[in-house]
Amino acid sequence: MKMLVLLGFFCLVPWLGSSEYEYVWRDSTTRSCKEIPVDLRLCHGVGYADMLLPNLLDHESMAEVKQQAASWVPLVQRRCHHGTQIFLCALFAPVCMERPVQPCRELCVSVRDACSPIMTAYGFSWPEMFNCSRFPEEEQEMCIDRTTPSTRSASDNNSTCPQCDHDLVLEHMCATEFAFKTKIKETSVDGSDLTVFLQKKKKLVMRRGDLSSDEIKNLELRLINGAKCPCPQLDERRHPYLIMGRRVGQRHLLTGIRRWDKSNQFKNLLKQLKSQKCSAYNPAFK
Ligand SMILES: *[C@@H]1O[C@H](CO)[C@@H](O)[C@H](O)[C@H]1NC(C)=O
Ligand SMILES: *[C@@H]1O[C@H](CO)[C@@H](O)[C@H](O)[C@H]1NC(C)=O
Ligand SMILES: *[C@@H]1O[C@H](CO)[C@@H](O)[C@H](O)[C@H]1NC(C)=O
Repeated sequence: MKMLVLLGFFCLVPWLGSSEYEYVWRDSTTRSCKEIPVDLRLCHGVGYADMLLPNLLDHESMAEVKQQAASWVPLVQRRCHHGTQIFLCALFAPVCMERPVQPCRELCVSVRDACSPIMTAYGFSWPEMFNCSRFPEEEQEMCIDRTTPSTRSASDNNSTCPQCDHDLVLEHMCATEFAFKTKIKETSVDGSDLTVFLQKKKKLVMRRGDLSSDEIKNLELRLINGAKCPCPQLDERRHPYLIMGRRVGQRHLLTGIRRWDKSNQFKNLLKQLKSQKCSAYNPAFK
């Protein structure tokens, strides 16, 4: 990570000798340098120790930065793009220099293309505050660049659907409004999505939103892009599953699926699912 950032700055060096050196920074905010705290998980360990406050998203206090940054940790853990953390931290925790340096548009586009399919799977869209056309192009202005080619894209045609990826169930929790124990009845392809029909019999594990009993009874869940990626759990109809979802508009999305078992690990997961405090979703993630 450190190398990435350093290389990023190397790309900037030619600018320092050019006439741009003279130009007046239009941003007159007084910023101060703060150490990146350990509990700013998104950016702690990103490769530099200090950050500017206010940041480039106009968060004024460290508490606000921490709160807003927290919901982006799962996206970094997804490893949809190796530059995700660099990109996000350029905004949430800009490296401490005389003036903040924006991420380059090329970096933004590359991260967006790799990671937005995962967000889509959970019913979120790429937020306007990360609209890539806000960020400078490499040739125009100093900015933080990608520097190495993207490794894995979320649209790799052979990788498990994000919603069905076992190791990541915990991360799905804040994108989840309800959870049941139930079995799968059938699935049908609907464009690039799958519609998942569940057995009538369902045991409610958790409900955060205002899902009504009628809705629960006849629930059809949509697995976004599920026609394009494998979801091994759906091929196995005999077993009960923990099925997680959320409502977006009129639709109910499947956000996670995991085989029900009696292990301590699974019990732990249920406990966390029930007690998880997700103080409304980050508005950025809506
Ligand atoms: C991003 O911003 C540009 C310029 O402000 C605007 O034209 C464009 O529609 C925005 N894109 C999205 C996806 O919102
Ligand atoms: C899936 O990947 C294989 C090998 O990487 C490639 O040959 C094939 O065209 C891909 N299929 C689709 C639908 O993208
Ligand atoms: C695709 O995944 C299947 C099992 O999920 C595996 O057997 C196969 O080798 C994979 N193919 C490629 C091209 O990675």
